[in-house]
Amino acid sequence: MKRALALAIGVVFVFACGSSDDSSGNYSIHPAAVYSGFDGDPINTFAVPATAIGVPDKTTVKWSVLDSDIADVATQDPATLAAGEPQQKATHHVIVTTKKDGTTKLRATIGTTKVDIPLTVRLFSQGAAALGDDLYQIDKPGASDPSQGGSADYVHGLGCIGCHGVKGGPGHSPSEIGGYDDATILKIIATAELPTGGLANNGNHKFQLDDKQQEAILARLRSLAPIDWPQ
Ligand code: HEC
Repeated sequence: MKRALALAIGVVFVFACGSSDDSSGNYSIHPAAVYSGFDGDPINTFAVPATAIGVPDKTTVKWSVLDSDIADVATQDPATLAAGEPQQKATHHVIVTTKKDGTTKLRATIGTTKVDIPLTVRLFSQGAAALGDDLYQIDKPGASDPSQGGSADYVHGLGCIGCHGVKGGPGHSPSEIGGYDDATILKIIATAELPTGGLANNGNHKFQLDDKQQEAILARLRSLAPIDWPQ
């Protein structure tokens, strides 16, 4: 399912060197902390985007992960910039792709200024993301309830796809939820309470998940392809 999502953001693994003299800016990174996952399965990519805020358009940002065993960084592909935007602007956006679990920091270096935010990568068990894909459906495709003579691997879907994952439905890729820790995401799912205030779907968003389902849904959400840069 997740691979059907259009990856609208291009990335490039080459860094422009040299940065501007401007170190007086009041810089920050959005979101203020990033959360992702890892499960060791090469078919699942866990990536989370972030944006340097307050940087002049023509200033280059250099990104790094302090423990480089945990994740790689890549900046926006300059070819995806809007016409007329300076090339340096592509370095204002980063995508962090995980390589193992652990906690470290994501660093933006802007001139002589270093801005760090926490990066937390959770280990998911093998198969969690696949179970999350199944739970997302109305019912697992091609399987039917064993009590109705169906197969033993039947998964009763939670029906998230009815609203999310359809064209125009609310997004919840790492572009939207990469700044939320696991507890915050689980709270939205269980109580409808959005961290930004207000209620998801007017409060009609209360799903009871057991521990295994919680891990599966988190693994699925964290492994969705980011669709946009956080502003
Ligand atoms: C009846 C429609 C509907 C269903 C079914 C549904 N959601 Fe939602 N969900 C919404 C709406 C509407 C929002 C609010 C989006 C917003 O305001 O940013 C939302 C928000 C979310 C968010 C927060 C996104 C953000 O940007 O903050 C998450 C995570 C989420 N839903 C997960 C789930 C999961 C997991 C399921 C299945 C267990 C599910 N939803 C089922 C309608 C639905």
